[in-house]
Amino acid sequence: QRIYILNGPNLNLLGKRQPEIYGHETLDDVTEACRRVAGEVEIRAEQSNHEGGLVELIHEARQDGLGIAINAGAYTHTSVAILDALNTFEGPVMEVHISNVHKRESFRHHSYISLRADGIIVGCGTQGYELAVQRILRMTGKG
Ligand code: DQA
Repeated sequence: QRIYILNGPNLNLLGKRQPEIYGHETLDDVTEACRRVAGEVEIRAEQSNHEGGLVELIHEARQDGLGIAINAGAYTHTSVAILDALNTFEGPVMEVHISNVHKRESFRHHSYISLRADGIIVGCGTQGYELAVQRILRMTGKG
């Protein structure tokens, strides 16, 4: 059983992409920090620029996922398919956004994923992923 950290489109460019909004840390830095927080619990960190790729990763989490921390990027605001996939997953789901989406354009204010998420972490920078992992550990009795 492992914690899935799923990242959507453009987040492979984290650290290089609009650093004034998303900061200078890379996705590898984020994964490393999450592994530190998770201790003995294994982390599977994946990124996809494709909606279907994220759907398939969520299906894989049905097999061995303790919980899912997901930043679906722009698909947050558009994807019923990712919401439907998350609705097939039984463990805790934490939604993460690095930036405070509520301070930004109104099209970023609605999230399909929030209809399933057990918790939402917004605007805490890349620390949000660590907080999500901590929460999943707590919710599953491992932290
Ligand atoms: C984001 C916010 C989304 O609106 C945007 O499309 C992203 C990143 C965030 O982490 O702040 O790609 O999810």
